[in-house]
Amino acid sequence: MISEKFEDFKIFTGNSNIFLAKSIVGYLGMNLGEILSTRFPDGEIYVRCLESVRGKEVFVIQSTYSPSDNLMELLIMIDALKRASARSICAVIPFFGYARQDRKTKSREPISAKLVANLITVAGATRVISVDLHAGQIQGFFDIPLDNLTAVLLLRSYFKDKELKNPVIVAPDVGAVPRTTEFSKGIRNSTQAIFVKKRLGPDEVETSRLIGEVKDKTVILVDDAIHTGGTMINAAEEVLKRGAIEVYVGATHGVFALDSLEKLEKSAIKEIVVTDTMPVSQRTNLPSKVKVLSVASLIGEAIKRIVFHESVSELFEKSS
Ligand code: R5P
Repeated sequence: MISEKFEDFKIFTGNSNIFLAKSIVGYLGMNLGEILSTRFPDGEIYVRCLESVRGKEVFVIQSTYSPSDNLMELLIMIDALKRASARSICAVIPFFGYARQDRKTKSREPISAKLVANLITVAGATRVISVDLHAGQIQGFFDIPLDNLTAVLLLRSYFKDKELKNPVIVAPDVGAVPRTTEFSKGIRNSTQAIFVKKRLGPDEVETSRLIGEVKDKTVILVDDAIHTGGTMINAAEEVLKRGAIEVYVGATHGVFALDSLEKLEKSAIKEIVVTDTMPVSQRTNLPSKVKVLSVASLIGEAIKRIVFHESVSELFEKSS
């Protein structure tokens, strides 16, 4: 039983997503470890672990979305746990920020995803768990084990139960195709379509060329993340212009930057389904069309399997 292992492993959380962390330990039937994370008067982060972790297997839950303090808090927590002689430290990063900068597309750009991977490893993490990394190749930026879980099956199961009429699963850009392909496998009689997206700037996209048919179909747009909402709103307008009946959206990470929630509320999208890798439910202005599914059991199960030295791959291996 998991309770027999309580003495061997501990779970801590930073401040980025405390509700998710509580749900994860709730799934496992345990409590969060005690850790103090506060500020010096000048704003610097101060962390102190309030219980012994000597020789323990330790997990730290923290999404690294903006502001960068979330990342900094994670690094400082890992450092504190390392110096307190934890046997191993797994960084559980439900939403891995800075992931979009995973290669140089123009000269003199950074590869921020690699930099963040280096920082996490140098701080002392011995393993990473994440959910739907922006690009699978980010796993290769780490020289420690990384389990890239997926919420696609969770999102798919939600839409499967809706039994939507004549569904077409639409990738808002070419990068989303592996996700939409996996998604469509579980939706009966579904077809697929792909947009060719051109990013004009950090908050401006052009989504006008579509490969595939959407006329008289119910569109489900599937992506890893919604940041400004521009990609999804543009794609929704385009499919409606082409005769789609209605538009649903499924994405793992609801980042919802700037005034995206207001824009999405006003948009023609009928429902937007995201997960709690970001603290979406705690947003004050959350439109009723946004539905949040929880990845707590997915992450909790992965932690349990790691502790018990069982296979984690079943949780993220795609169906054939
Ligand atoms: C980028 O390639 C991602 O997969 C998403 O399409 C992107 O993050 C969405 O950003 P936004 O909501 O700002 O259009």
